[in-house]
Amino acid sequence: MKILVTGGAGFIGANFVYFQLQNHPEDQIVCVDALTYAGNLETLAEAMKNPQFKFVKADIADRAAMDELFAAETFDVVVNFAAESHVDRSIENPEIFLKTNIMGTQVLMDCSRKYQVSRYHQVSTDEVYGDLPLDRPDLFFTEETPIHTSSPYSASKASADLLVQAYHRTFKLPVTISRCSNNYGPYHFPEKLIPLMIARALADQSLPVYGKGENVRDWLYVEDHCSAIDLIIRKGRVGEVYNIGGHNERTNLEVVQTILRELGKPESLINYVTDRPGHDQRYAIDPAKISSELGWTPATKFDDGIKKTIQWYLDNRSWWEHILSGDYQNYYAQMYANR
Ligand code: NAD
Ligand code: TYD
Repeated sequence: MKILVTGGAGFIGANFVYFQLQNHPEDQIVCVDALTYAGNLETLAEAMKNPQFKFVKADIADRAAMDELFAAETFDVVVNFAAESHVDRSIENPEIFLKTNIMGTQVLMDCSRKYQVSRYHQVSTDEVYGDLPLDRPDLFFTEETPIHTSSPYSASKASADLLVQAYHRTFKLPVTISRCSNNYGPYHFPEKLIPLMIARALADQSLPVYGKGENVRDWLYVEDHCSAIDLIIRKGRVGEVYNIGGHNERTNLEVVQTILRELGKPESLINYVTDRPGHDQRYAIDPAKISSELGWTPATKFDDGIKKTIQWYLDNRSWWEHILSGDYQNYYAQMYANR
């Protein structure tokens, strides 16, 4: 099988590339990534050594480039991770979110139709469901929960989901969609809560907690997300949406306190800052459908996953220090200078 992984130089896409190369060594993986600020080719350095893996630098919204790629490669499966993914950036400047997350999805689906891929998988997010109130711990997102978005980011992801469903209904494109809760683990870009707090705590810098830190996220170890997508593309039913999450809800304050405790740093580093506009209160996934249909269960509990993640950031300082210094953006030029 030949799989196109878009956005594979980012956090989850890269973890998925490694998951596939390890668990399905017979499959070929082509990664396309525009290497935006969030894409880091250093992350894929090990994959580059594998003859089953190939990297192509291109923008998923560039129709000519995607057509050329699909014509040259004959993909069986497309898994679309490529996206602008940071809510705070979408509040600062929504436009690129619409271009990449919506138009990019459309271009990929047009090519998937034209070149007859057998599965187009859209990596979506639980944020398309909006949020749940903090005082109703009995409520969870199911696949039937109405789409109800809050940020330009979630609105762009929801728009893409609707388009994916339209391409299935109208053109019979064989699609699946997964909607996952917040991920954490290796290669997470240090602008997101967990890696940001680890990096700043290690440098004894203040930790900016939005509002009172009482917002709740449902944290999933990234490898569990990868195993779920792997099951969906191989065994999931065409046209279906699958929620992915593992009942690991924590308030932001609990997450930050756990990181400080694990690193032996004082809580006096916590700095409560002005809340994010439109800040979603609580996300919580009901994974009953993927569990019962595909037998998926998450392997890693938050208390273990956060320890593994902190250890990874301690063991791989150069990876995130290159990001903080900006050096990672020179890597592509170095790698491809003589090719
Ligand atoms: P990320 O920001 O770490 O990585 C995104 C990758 O996409 C980067 O490598 C970037 O260079 C690439 N990219 C951006 N625009 C592109 C374009 N126009 N063409 C080609 N490549 C482009 O994001 P992530 O956290 O790994 O998220 C991956 C996917 O998973 C996204 O679709 C996101 O919406 C979804 N998701 C993320 C989470 C989470 O907690 N991070 C949870 C649920 C769903
Ligand atoms: P984030 O990692 O940006 O993911 P998302 O907004 O997609 O859930 O943020 C996770 C939570 O942490 C969210 O409630 C916002 C909060 N947060 C902070 O309190 N401080 C920060 O510096 C960041 C980046 C996030």
